[in-house]
Amino acid sequence: MTTYITTPIYYVNAEPHLGHAFTTIVADTYSRFRRLCGDEVRFQTGTDEHGDKIAEAAGKEGVGPKEYVDRISAVFRNTWPLLQVFPDTFIRTTDSEHIKTVQDILQYVYDQGDIYFDEYSGLYCKGCERFLTEKELVDGNCPDHQVPPKEITEQNYFFRMSKYQQRLIDYIHTHPEFITPERYRNEVLSFLQEPLEDLCISRPTSRLTWGIRLPFDQSFVTYVWFDALINYLTGIGYPDGPDFARYWAVAEHLIAKDILKPHAIYWPTMLMAIGLTPFIRLHVHGYWNIDDTKMSKSIGNVVRPGELVAEYGIDTLRYFTLREMSFGLDASFGHEAIVARKNSDLANDLGNLFSRSTAMLLKYSNGVVPQPSDSDDPLDEDLRLVATVMLSRYRETFTNFQFHLGLQSIWELISYANKYIVRNEPWVLAVAPEKKDRLDTVLYNLAECLRLLTLVLSPVMPETAVKMAVGLGLGAGNALVGNLDQGGAWGLFPAGTCLQKIEALFPRIEKIKTVEDKSPSQPKKQKKGNVQENKDEEGLITFEQFRTVDLRVAEVVAAERLKNSDKLLKLTVKVPEERIVVAGIAEFYTPEEMVGRLVLMVANLKPAQLMGVTSHGMLLAAKTEVDGKQRLVLSTVGDRVEAGSKVS
Ligand code: MSP
Repeated sequence: MTTYITTPIYYVNAEPHLGHAFTTIVADTYSRFRRLCGDEVRFQTGTDEHGDKIAEAAGKEGVGPKEYVDRISAVFRNTWPLLQVFPDTFIRTTDSEHIKTVQDILQYVYDQGDIYFDEYSGLYCKGCERFLTEKELVDGNCPDHQVPPKEITEQNYFFRMSKYQQRLIDYIHTHPEFITPERYRNEVLSFLQEPLEDLCISRPTSRLTWGIRLPFDQSFVTYVWFDALINYLTGIGYPDGPDFARYWAVAEHLIAKDILKPHAIYWPTMLMAIGLTPFIRLHVHGYWNIDDTKMSKSIGNVVRPGELVAEYGIDTLRYFTLREMSFGLDASFGHEAIVARKNSDLANDLGNLFSRSTAMLLKYSNGVVPQPSDSDDPLDEDLRLVATVMLSRYRETFTNFQFHLGLQSIWELISYANKYIVRNEPWVLAVAPEKKDRLDTVLYNLAECLRLLTLVLSPVMPETAVKMAVGLGLGAGNALVGNLDQGGAWGLFPAGTCLQKIEALFPRIEKIKTVEDKSPSQPKKQKKGNVQENKDEEGLITFEQFRTVDLRVAEVVAAERLKNSDKLLKLTVKVPEERIVVAGIAEFYTPEEMVGRLVLMVANLKPAQLMGVTSHGMLLAAKTEVDGKQRLVLSTVGDRVEAGSKVS
């Protein structure tokens, strides 16, 4: 199969921000997903370089428009690889081939009588580069740019858009997937209930020269949309390039809701006039907002993708944007939200699953994926089921641009696999030689989960997927992690594969609240070495004294050995906020068996430094002797309770 996916071509009056980056990341993710499905993919983006706004921006910098557009276009082009985004075509509307084709199309439509000359008065918004209708205004202002449009009267050329109105309505009705999500299809259909006006497609050169001249009247240049939309054709070699027909037959456009009308109304009617079938799908997403306001250059609240990559890493940014935005709706951008997603979804859930599972494979199976036994253990069956459901949800949701739902489903598998470890207790199986077969099956199943996760996450987090593939001993090019048809089923991991040790996938961002910040009731200050001071003669404490101790149930969400120490483990626990606790239990517990445990903890101890790490609490454990050796056994609660529950 073939896929052709486009982003809008971005105006070069400003440098790229998170809004542009998001659309381009989505298109890249979709391209990678379709390649994973075995498709041949053409992914196109580019820059829109004509028009008033651009001429004005160049003027402000004191340079000519061509010099200006060359510079900003290069900034866009060079930004995408920084996000691991690799378009196949980068089109510019100043490319000579594009200009020639736009003129040929204008001449063709003019010759067939669909372009005519007339006088027009209207409300023109410079920001939108189009005339607005009275209905669109909010308090007299353009809703997007919050300034009143200008009343303009001039003679111009018009495209007979109204002629195609009914055909467009019929097309939308007979092609339910033409505009998605549905809310935007409804919005377009409701707009089409009113008579469609013809589209003014020219600007006199007395007002604007930075544009493509009309071939049939040199005193006019073409209106930006009639120029810009045609990029989707010129980029694939319209009219007679060898690949044109193949790609156009499957064209899918991706935009935000700001440019819905040009794409859902102007463009299909233009295509009808040119004699081409409309594209097959238009995918419309919402805005990235900051404090409920659209992120945009004119408002001055932009976040730069390069800065986010430097701070959080490429894959975290890609994952965050795709997971956080419900496709079609607006989303709010915030640094806390990225940190939370990174720590919770990436470091705790995915990162831990990977490190615990591979650590156990290394320890209990010499780093070799073991041969599983036939099993009807319900834990195995459930794991297989969750994985299989995930695979089919993944195909469906990613095909339909519901990336947030696909990722949720992937995280259900991650979460189930983490529980699978706790329930199977491989560390217990490992000390019982008669349980070797069971241990091998559990380890195999974990390796298989990691392989499937590598496969499905590769379009979203390409760098992480390469690391995971290497860690699993498969290598990045392997079809088992690079092709959904060849690798997208349970049980394909070849037993005998040797794993490789790799670094942690997602180091946590540590922003831990101290006990002082959180706990209102501090224990009374006690002088060191004088603990008897508050006790009575028999060594008893009062209830009031006991009450000063804040005991909580803590859930261990991450664990690692402290460098240069045989005794200490560094734990990240939830109580329910996250804290670091350093515990002297490394001789008795491995990091892998700690994750997922519920333990008891003194939560209002003053922070203490241990081997350079600040510990914010102390775990309770019983001291006992086993075979003449001292052993610590952690205290825990019998039933499942919420992390952070008070113990009294
Ligand atoms: N040049 C036109 C498009 C012509 S396509 C034939 C244009 N350019 S633009 O630079 O303004 O880009 C608009 C697009 O950038 C949006 O449709 C969206 O893809 C992306 N975004 C810009 N700001 C955005 C947000 N705040 N949030 C989400 N996406 C945003 O319009």
